[in-house]
Amino acid sequence: MDIIIASNNPGKIKEFKKILEPLGYNVISQKEAGINIEVEETGTSFRENSELKARAIYKLTHKQVLADDSGIEVEYLNGAPGIYSARYMNLGSDEERTNYVLKQLEGVEESKRNARFVCCICYIDENGKEQFAEGYWNGKLATESRGENGFGYDPIFIPNGETITSAEMLPEEKNKKSHRAIALKELLKILNKE
Ligand code: IMP
Repeated sequence: MDIIIASNNPGKIKEFKKILEPLGYNVISQKEAGINIEVEETGTSFRENSELKARAIYKLTHKQVLADDSGIEVEYLNGAPGIYSARYMNLGSDEERTNYVLKQLEGVEESKRNARFVCCICYIDENGKEQFAEGYWNGKLATESRGENGFGYDPIFIPNGETITSAEMLPEEKNKKSHRAIALKELLKILNKE
């Protein structure tokens, strides 16, 4: 069953492929579907932005589409970067963004370093019907970047119950526990009930 991922983020697409392909889905990235657009994220929530992305790609394809809007919320920064995670402070690379967050939390004690990854998925079926699912992954911000796996803020996020960052976890471990994995599990539960 073909499913298009409404994203140009290679890190996300890789994770969706790893999780969905063993379940029998043929995961096609937006680019592989021949769509060369970057949908503007003008929404004010993860949910609104996931819907904007999924709807834009659905309108062009009329095939089943899945979009995720995700990011990291840092308690000490009152939930920032949140929905602006991919373009935080207009910084141009993951490394600049993670360094900026680390700098803002310099000297902040461990009990105040709580953070969580959030993922909202919007799924649209061939008939245009929408479903939403959310996932959260709680943890703490590290004091330095560590690890080469994953993408984005993974090198500075230590999931609760772990001593390593999500960039040091094996991809298959991250894909069992992450906000994205939890949201997908939730979505599949909803779809299987239909
Ligand atoms: P979006 O394309 O607006 O959903 O951007 C999501 C951004 O949030 C990414 O570019 C990353 O910076 C961050 N992010 C989301 N999920 C993850 C993850 O699993 N690991 C690390 N960073 C993530």
